[in-house]
Amino acid sequence: MTKHAELSFATAAIHHGYDPLDHDGALTPPLHLTSTFAFESAEDGAARFSGERPGHVYSRISNPTLDLLERRIAHLEGAEAALATASGMGAITATLWTLLRPGDEILTDITLYGCTFAFMQHGLGRFGIRVTHVDMTDLAAVAAAFGPDTRLVYFETPANPNMRLVDIAAVCRLAKAHGAWSVVDNTYSTPVITRPVTLGADFVVHSATKYLGGHGDLVAGVVLGRAEDIQQIRLFGLKDMTGAVLSPFNAMLILRGLKTLELRVERHAASAMTIATRLEAHPAVSAVHYPGLASFAQRDLAARQMALPGGMIAFQLHSGYEGGKRVMNRLTLITRAVSLGDAETLIQHPASMTHSTYPVEQLIAHGVMPDLVRLSVGLEDPKDIWADLEQALVEE
Ligand SMILES: Cc1ncc(COP(=O)(O)O)c(C=O)c1O
Repeated sequence: MTKHAELSFATAAIHHGYDPLDHDGALTPPLHLTSTFAFESAEDGAARFSGERPGHVYSRISNPTLDLLERRIAHLEGAEAALATASGMGAITATLWTLLRPGDEILTDITLYGCTFAFMQHGLGRFGIRVTHVDMTDLAAVAAAFGPDTRLVYFETPANPNMRLVDIAAVCRLAKAHGAWSVVDNTYSTPVITRPVTLGADFVVHSATKYLGGHGDLVAGVVLGRAEDIQQIRLFGLKDMTGAVLSPFNAMLILRGLKTLELRVERHAASAMTIATRLEAHPAVSAVHYPGLASFAQRDLAARQMALPGGMIAFQLHSGYEGGKRVMNRLTLITRAVSLGDAETLIQHPASMTHSTYPVEQLIAHGVMPDLVRLSVGLEDPKDIWADLEQALVEE
């Protein structure tokens, strides 16, 4: 919609791609709960199938409610196109099944979300794709790791769960120089904080289950990139290989979530800064990993690449994992649960939960410290979040 082309992020998140006057004046976009679409004639059906004529065919391929979500999120990420999927794993798997062939190699960071790690090791590995982990905080190591079969570079920044950052522009430049695709998981940052496509990434993937949806009531994903590439993922990785199609109802909930994305991420980040500062000053805490802290090892990169330090914190206690378990069990407000980016503050232990897909003996090599506790700072009053943490830490 050209009349909305120049809108700022918060405004575009509410208006981009939708004019109520095109829809009987309905303020909110209609929900197209339909599996299939009627053709005017047999010829029209054939023309839509062949792509000669635009129009929807079947909701495993496209749907007007998903279409609006895809156009809006693409606009917010600065990408040409987006594809919504039934989960973040649906976005990641549909993308990689489309781009890779047996004999190809993926270069990936040492730290990945547990199921992404499992998909690469146990899924892609079974089909003849080699997965090589390299410490992507070390650019010289990344440059040295490319081989003749390297087709794709994949990383998260900040990485789940340890908050390590990867220099998006530098690593994507290296990938391009070696003729490899770059795929960045932007779940932790959201486009409010970082827009990897504008820094040179070919593809961005999200678990939209997290901040994009923002309310802990759905599972969803999205992949973004150039229109032609996204169309290939739609027609192969999604339509044929995974079938990981998002429900129109969930697309509508994400459209609702996006309206408050900037507000929420700003609040998540402001509260996380308060909590991280207090945690760091607490005698029971041995380390806090948060990009907003002066002590954060990669704070220059954080300042360059992230508009805000985000809502996620990882920390360790002097009393180790046993202490972490005791603290988690004493909490009364903060919820013991996986997932992140919700209104509720969530706490979990990656080594035994989200990252238990790693062989135990490999956890440290992948930067998943066995005593690391992960906190997703929610939208409650930070005073209440801290009061709960403080009472839980008192005996440590
Ligand atoms: C960084 C990251 N990427 C991808 C995923 C997978 O997303 P989903 O659970 O929506 O399939 C997650 C889930 O926790 C995640 O944290």
